[in-house]
Amino acid sequence: MSSSIFSAVPYIPPDPIFELTKQYNANPSLLKVNLGQGTYKDENGEPWILPAVRAAKEKIRTANHEYLPILGLTSFRSRATELLFGQDSDVIKDGRVASCQALSGTGALHTAGKILYRAAQAARNTIPTVYITNPSWSNHRQVFESIGFPVQEFEYTTADNSGLNMGCLTQTLTQAPAHSIFVFHASAHNPSGWDPTAEQWKAIGEIVKAKGLFPIFDAAYLGMTSGDFDTDAFAIRYFVHELGVESAVCLSFAKSLGLYGERIGLCAFATSSSTIATAVQSTLAQLIRVEISNPPAFGARVVAAVLEDEDLRAEWAQNLVTMSERIKAMRWALYEGLVELGTPGNWKRITEQKGMFCILGLRLEEVLHLREKYHIYMADSSRVSIAGLNAGNVRYVAECIDRTVREFRSR
Ligand code: LMR
Repeated sequence: MSSSIFSAVPYIPPDPIFELTKQYNANPSLLKVNLGQGTYKDENGEPWILPAVRAAKEKIRTANHEYLPILGLTSFRSRATELLFGQDSDVIKDGRVASCQALSGTGALHTAGKILYRAAQAARNTIPTVYITNPSWSNHRQVFESIGFPVQEFEYTTADNSGLNMGCLTQTLTQAPAHSIFVFHASAHNPSGWDPTAEQWKAIGEIVKAKGLFPIFDAAYLGMTSGDFDTDAFAIRYFVHELGVESAVCLSFAKSLGLYGERIGLCAFATSSSTIATAVQSTLAQLIRVEISNPPAFGARVVAAVLEDEDLRAEWAQNLVTMSERIKAMRWALYEGLVELGTPGNWKRITEQKGMFCILGLRLEEVLHLREKYHIYMADSSRVSIAGLNAGNVRYVAECIDRTVREFRSR
C-alpha cells in the first residue's frame, strides 16, 4: 500500500505561456526579446501604466479595506455592464442582465461555465458539449474540462492559416446539437488574429439562434483591436440586441486597462427575462460565496473610477488608440523588415491579422532555434505577441527570423 494519499496525483507540466515568461526572465542576455505572453509593452519595452489608470488610482487612494458585496463593487458592475451592452440597451433597461465581478477573463469563464453546467443539469440532466476553436487560447479547454464539460475543437483557420475557415465554422454550428455551447473570441482571436467580419458574425449569429446554441463571448481584447471599445463589441451587441440570443460575456480588463495582476473582469449573462436574470444572479452569488466569499476590491475600484469620470473615460479612449496603433505599427515594421530582407515565406498576414497576436507559421525547430540562439521568445506555435516589439528590437527580430528560415529551409 502506498504511504501517501497523493500517490495517484499526476505530475502536470507547467503552463506553456507562463513557463515561457519564466525562461525569458531567467535569461541574462541583453539581446532577449519577449514575444510570448500577451501583455502590452510600451515603445521602450516596459509595462505601460495607462494614464487613465494612474489618475484613477489617485482618486481612490483613500478607499478603505472593507469587504465588497458578494457580487462585487456595485458601481463597477453597473458601469461595466453599461460599457458592454451600451448605456441605453433594452437588456439593461428590462433588468435582463445577471452579472458578477470576476477574477479577470479566466475567472469569468470559470464562473460562466459553472452556471451553465448547473443550468443544464437542472433542466435536462445532460451536459452539453463546449465547442472551442482550433487553435484557441491554451486555457479554454482546461477551464471547461475542469468543470466537467466535454470539450470539442473545430478548425477555425484554413490549413495554411491564411484566414478564417468560415465553411468549417458554419458546418460545426449547423451540426451541433441544440444547447451546445460555443466559445467565441469577441474580438482579436487568440492566437490566430483572424476575426469574422461583421457580415460573417451576422451569419454565425443566425445559425446560433436558429439552432438554439449558446454563445460564450471571451471578451479579453475589447478596445485593443480597433482602438474603439464599441466597434470591438459589435458581435456581442449584435447577438444580444439584434438577435435576442441569450449569451454569456466574459469581460477582462487585463489588456484594455493594463490591469493584468489585479484580476478584474465581469461575468455577465444577457437572459430572456428579468425573472431568469434574478435567479441566475442569485446562483452567481452563491457560487462566489462558496468559492471566494467576495471578490477583491482594488481593480474594481480602479475600473469604476475610470468609467464614472467623463475625463478619465476620454483619457482611456485615447489610451486604447495609443495601444492599438502601436501594435499595428509594429505589425507593419516586422512585415516590412522581412520583405526588405527578402525572407522566404508569405508575411502579408502579419499586417492582416487583428489584435495582439499573430502566428508566423514557423516550424517548431525554427521557434526553438530563435529562442536558443537569438534569445527571442515566442510560443511553440510561432504565436508572436506583437506588443513585445519596438523600434529598438524589431529589426533584430526580423534579421534573426530571416537567418533562421534560410538556415532551416535550405537543409
Ligand atoms: C496570453 O495568451 O498570452 C495571455 O492571454 C496571457 C495568459 O494568461 O495566457
